[in-house]
Amino acid sequence: MSPATPQRFLTGITTTGTPHLGNFVGSIRPSVAASRLAGVQSFYFLADYHALIKCDEPARIQRSTLEIAASWLAAGLDPERVTFYRQSDIPEIPELTWLLTCVTGKGVLNRAHAYKASVDKNQAAGNDPDAEVTAGLFMYPVLMGADILMFRTHKVPVGRDQIQHIEMARDMAQRFNHLYGEHLVLPEAVIEESVALLPGLDGRKMSKSYDNTIPLFAPREQLRKLIGGIVTDSRAPGEPKETEGSALFQIYQAFASEQETSALRQAFAEGVAWGEAKQILFERIDREVAPMREHYAALLADPAGIESILQRGADKARQTASPFMAELRHAVGLRRLVATAPAEKKSKAGKVEAPLFKQYREPDGRFYFKLLDARARLLLQSQGFDAPKDAALAIRALQSGGAEALVAMHGRVTLAPDVQAAEVQAALNYFSQPAD
Ligand code: TRP
Repeated sequence: MSPATPQRFLTGITTTGTPHLGNFVGSIRPSVAASRLAGVQSFYFLADYHALIKCDEPARIQRSTLEIAASWLAAGLDPERVTFYRQSDIPEIPELTWLLTCVTGKGVLNRAHAYKASVDKNQAAGNDPDAEVTAGLFMYPVLMGADILMFRTHKVPVGRDQIQHIEMARDMAQRFNHLYGEHLVLPEAVIEESVALLPGLDGRKMSKSYDNTIPLFAPREQLRKLIGGIVTDSRAPGEPKETEGSALFQIYQAFASEQETSALRQAFAEGVAWGEAKQILFERIDREVAPMREHYAALLADPAGIESILQRGADKARQTASPFMAELRHAVGLRRLVATAPAEKKSKAGKVEAPLFKQYREPDGRFYFKLLDARARLLLQSQGFDAPKDAALAIRALQSGGAEALVAMHGRVTLAPDVQAAEVQAALNYFSQPAD
């Protein structure tokens, strides 16, 4: 991979509940941090199709979508910098799901953790193995594969429990590429080692399904109360406490610096009272969360504002998804009977389908290039280069580096009047897709 190619990160949160500290530590916080790195292009989305697998309460799904969107924005996600969207606004995702369904072994899905857990439970209870198991649950990994592969994702920051899903997405991509050519990028999971699985109030993984969560934006007093309810052992004040296996300690570690953590370890050894340890934990979390909590409340009060952010995000996402899906449809043979390759298709109004770089020499003796969209409209104009090789290198960097390269080349290329950066980006995306 050339150094100019931006690393694409993508992650989603299922919209079935109110975001909790586990979501924050395992997903929101590392994602927002990654989105700020240079050379990174990030995709964050609200996995509301996934929500349908677990939840048949429409109002809850809608409310959760609002709360989760507000949480990410409050946690510092910048929708101008990243692509932030709702899964169900991207019709290409269910479309890709079907293509992947057709290259995924049923036996592979039989072994998916969530499905297998349901089957095991049924068998233990002497029921039909598939009792109350929907095909949606069975297909969960394929929908997730489509989420990831749609945007040619390199890295997927997720909790440890999701690693299997990322591996399955890799297998789907590999199988697809083997059959149809190199179209899909093989993704990798990124796990925050120290804190990937935050324990909940009862010491098991913090999860909506265990009903042991601490809402990320619980009001201060409620946060205090919830933290007071974290399970501890029965050691009395003055008795040394074990950090190993202590949910309280692990949660603290996820928020504290190394120094703070070793101070608490010391306090444990010296027999700090559980009540006092809980107070320390409460203050530490509240310190981090309080500023975001206010922003969150303001966002929740303006659903229309969030909706318009999501709509803009969907537009941006579809600028990638729509031409890529056209390429994949073509690859598998879902083709018009007349046209041959996507590059030869006529452009639909407003869509860039076959952009073109043109290199030329001006009477001033210097070498230039320009980028035209599929309808030959000028998008980008270069400055003069001394040698044709330099112009060619710049073109290649743009073709493989996309938006990042565009930024890096500021001053050497200019957008044509009335052209949006997003249009140029969409055109450049075309070149970073493998040709078929
Ligand atoms: N399965 C993820 C979870 O429950 C949510 C999700 C859906 C996701 N699609 C994704 C995460 C794609 C990462 C990438 O946490």
